[in-house]
Amino acid sequence: MSAEIRIEGLEKRYETPSGDVLAVADVTLDVAAGEFVAVVGASGCGKSTLLRILAGFEEPSGGTVTVAGAPITGPGPDRGVVFQDYGLFPWLTVHENVAYGPARRGLARADARAKADLYLETVGLTRFAKKFPGELSGGMQQRVAIARVLANDPAVMLMDEPFGALDALTRSDLQVQLRGLQRAEGRTVVFITHSIEEAVYLADRVVVMTGGASHGVPGHIREIVPIPLAEDRDVTSPAFNAFKRQISALVHERAAA
Ligand SMILES: Nc1ncnc2c1ncn2[C@@H]1O[C@H](COP(=O)(O)OP(=O)(O)O)[C@@H](O)[C@H]1O
Ligand SMILES: [Mg+2]
Repeated sequence: MSAEIRIEGLEKRYETPSGDVLAVADVTLDVAAGEFVAVVGASGCGKSTLLRILAGFEEPSGGTVTVAGAPITGPGPDRGVVFQDYGLFPWLTVHENVAYGPARRGLARADARAKADLYLETVGLTRFAKKFPGELSGGMQQRVAIARVLANDPAVMLMDEPFGALDALTRSDLQVQLRGLQRAEGRTVVFITHSIEEAVYLADRVVVMTGGASHGVPGHIREIVPIPLAEDRDVTSPAFNAFKRQISALVHERAAA
């Protein structure tokens, strides 16, 4: 299950005590159903703003955003969100955390449990089903958070620096898992990251954003870089590194200088 995202002329203005801030402007982007798009860019260029709007946590000030053809009116089960902090319910077991969404959506208890079983197995946590989040490492908690989102069968997964707090090994492990999962299930993913390598490893296309209120220009899309590399990506290959260099140059360019 997947869905297309269409963003056109998106603008977001925040009201602050010191006046309005135009955080992002003129953002136009189509994400195809089943596509994996990574968004990179310096702090403050509006990445999280864009994601919160897609999640329905924030309203656009201008422009249009649709998912599967329908305008976004708020958060919905068609869109699963994963943040850097795992957001698990500490008072529920791992299994209960994952079964919670499907049960709330009205699935029979046995079906909700079967979903939780399936996705805990997918992220390799079957053995930890009865533990509480506080008993797990950060990497494991993030796996639970991903399983929890997957168990809701969202057409779209929205991820804001989900691996940012993890050590390098755990992070690359989860990258491999996420990519495998996404390819297998064909979900549409918008994935924000600070890591250019992570973006090039995971994405079909990398959206480079620049600007931001502190640069005196609203955050906007600088360039969209397709990554036509094989599924089995070798992070040490010359082609991979050429993409890293290209994107790094775009990210570090003086903002609209
Ligand atoms: N709730 C808010 N109120 C006021 N300004 C905000 C709010 N959220 C974000 N901003 C501003 O919008 C700009 C973009 O922020 P954000 O989307 O968090 O960027 P990023 O995720 O790329 O670091 C920044 O200048 C930030 O200060
Ligand atoms: Mg952010």
